[in-house]
Amino acid sequence: MLRAPPVNTVGIVTADLFDAAAMYDDDYLYFFASPESAGAPTHGPVVGTAYATTSVTTDIVWRLLDLQPGMSVLDLACGHGALANALAVRGCEVTGLDSSAVFLDRARADAAAMDVAVEYVPGDMRRLPAWTGRFDRLVNWTTAFGYFDDPTNRRVLAEMARVLRPGGRMAMDLDNLPRFLASYTPSRITATRDDGDMLVDRHHFDPLTGRFEVERTVFRDGRTRRLTFLKRLFGFPELRDWCTAAGFTTVAAYGEDGEPLNIHHDRMIVIADLP
Ligand SMILES: C[S@@+](CC[C@H](N)C(=O)[O-])C[C@H]1O[C@@H](n2cnc3c(N)ncnc32)[C@H](O)[C@@H]1O
Repeated sequence: MLRAPPVNTVGIVTADLFDAAAMYDDDYLYFFASPESAGAPTHGPVVGTAYATTSVTTDIVWRLLDLQPGMSVLDLACGHGALANALAVRGCEVTGLDSSAVFLDRARADAAAMDVAVEYVPGDMRRLPAWTGRFDRLVNWTTAFGYFDDPTNRRVLAEMARVLRPGGRMAMDLDNLPRFLASYTPSRITATRDDGDMLVDRHHFDPLTGRFEVERTVFRDGRTRRLTFLKRLFGFPELRDWCTAAGFTTVAAYGEDGEPLNIHHDRMIVIADLP
């Protein structure tokens, strides 16, 4: 059901498992990141957003990453820059990298409106620029990891380790597998707007690959559009071992409240340190 376009938005030839440009576009921002969508209901399970506001997210990132003003932070797959801009407001030197030009345009516009300086870079998390040892901290938020085959997903972790300085720390925010699977449904209305626009998702979880595959139908302004995407789901022990193999030493997991991970948390925040 998932197609394999040969070229992604930054022009790198890949064996992509889905078309990220079709997924992370203006429709996504319309449903998930516009002022009008803020109060839009998300129906049914398959775990929605666990963080009430960007400020709540920023607080937990600040604490778990032990951030200080002046630290250099890479927001990897930064999306439309909500977290990157908020970290810059608190005094970090932030770089945001993402493959979506639409999202980066929005991130830059919001940074300008907030009067903060963030370096926004178009790029591919599989091959980061020549940033070896550059960052004190790295953040990868809202299930922005696990879009590729497993060797490539592991290469992304190695890239994260490469761009952090010795003693650096990274934070990844992912679905909490036990809770996610307990909430599994074959389909759901994922987002609605007052005018009747909506996103409807059909789900498939493949236990052989650990991939959660989604066929999404976008209903907007009388148009109907279909797209597919997937994400790899991880139990903590597997991801901990991948992080260790990528060079991280201490690897821990927390829930969205910052407490040690348990089965009731919606989110799994993995914190990993380099030696
Ligand atoms: C679920 S969104 C999360 C965005 C952001 N971290 C947030 O919390 O809102 C996933 C992001 O990954 C980006 N992305 C997908 N494939 C990518 C790639 N190969 N390299 C860099 N970014 C990618 C998308 O454009 C999108 O912004």
